[in-house]
Amino acid sequence: MVHSVTLGAVLLAVLSAVQALPAPTLAKRQAITALSQSQISSFTPFTFYASTAYCQPSATLAWDCGANCEANPTFHPIASGGDGDGTPFWFVGFDPTLATIIVAHEGTNTSEILSLLTDADIIQESLSSSLFPGVNSDIEVHSGFAGAQANSATDVLSAVESGISEFGATEVTVVGHSLGAAISLLDFVYLPLHLPADITVRFVGYGLPRVGNQDFANFVDAQGRSVTHINNEEDPIPILPGMFLGYHHPSGEVHIEDSGEWANCPGQDNPSDQCIVGDVPTIFEGNESDHDGPYDGVEMGC
Ligand SMILES: *[C@@H]1O[C@H](CO)[C@@H](O)[C@H](O)[C@H]1NC(C)=O
Ligand SMILES: *[C@@H]1O[C@H](CO)[C@@H](O)[C@H](O)[C@H]1NC(C)=O
Repeated sequence: MVHSVTLGAVLLAVLSAVQALPAPTLAKRQAITALSQSQISSFTPFTFYASTAYCQPSATLAWDCGANCEANPTFHPIASGGDGDGTPFWFVGFDPTLATIIVAHEGTNTSEILSLLTDADIIQESLSSSLFPGVNSDIEVHSGFAGAQANSATDVLSAVESGISEFGATEVTVVGHSLGAAISLLDFVYLPLHLPADITVRFVGYGLPRVGNQDFANFVDAQGRSVTHINNEEDPIPILPGMFLGYHHPSGEVHIEDSGEWANCPGQDNPSDQCIVGDVPTIFEGNESDHDGPYDGVEMGC
């Protein structure tokens, strides 16, 4: 009798200990697995779309931009815009091969993104209540990213709505590299607030910096929709801004290792050295030339 009470108490203590573990500790326990070659190849069209976003809007609207456009030959452009400065270039269109609308945002060069991320005045702000109606104001994001996303948001939304009605699309994939990935992650949260519930929105980003606070990262995870952010080798951009400044990544990291293997890194900011947080503990361990790729052979840029 005494023994069973003791056993019960021990079990209870063990169970409470398990429940008390913070989520990242549980996530860390999930295995890091390698993507198969066919899983890696399935990202190639999106990698080219993210790269194509660096081309002039007139070229993407005509789908005449050389190798980047030719890599996705069945694409139907719908709209494009941006000035390559305060409003990075963007385009929207329909890919009948993948049966998805594509929204792509241009990024910026490494020195410019570094200055955006290491700016001493870096501030977080709540999402705009007109663009993001009903979203909790505890959710905060980098104000520079919020401003850049706001500049194209309504034009992107109308182009997506045209694509849904013209092509009968039921899926939207938002892609981008660098600053473009940050804008696209905000579109990933923004678009579903304005689209019919049966439209699936997914995100594929490359060299994504941290966009917002813990509430933002949790909100992205809670969407329950596909999020993949692919980090190349020792790229320092994805470890910025630092977690000590209150910035966190959503789940969905894929890390390209020096061996060329693509590792699936479960959870938020997985600390394993197979993932970007463990592999690049500080920017001094980073290599800026990894930011632009190659991502399975594709270098970012028009
Ligand atoms: C990066 O972009 C900024 C702003 O557009 C520009 O001033 C700078 O010359 C660029 N740097 C490189 C290396 O292209
Ligand atoms: C950075 O990466 C480039 C491209 O992989 C490589 O050529 C260069 O040697 C690396 N630099 C350092 C300091 O490791």
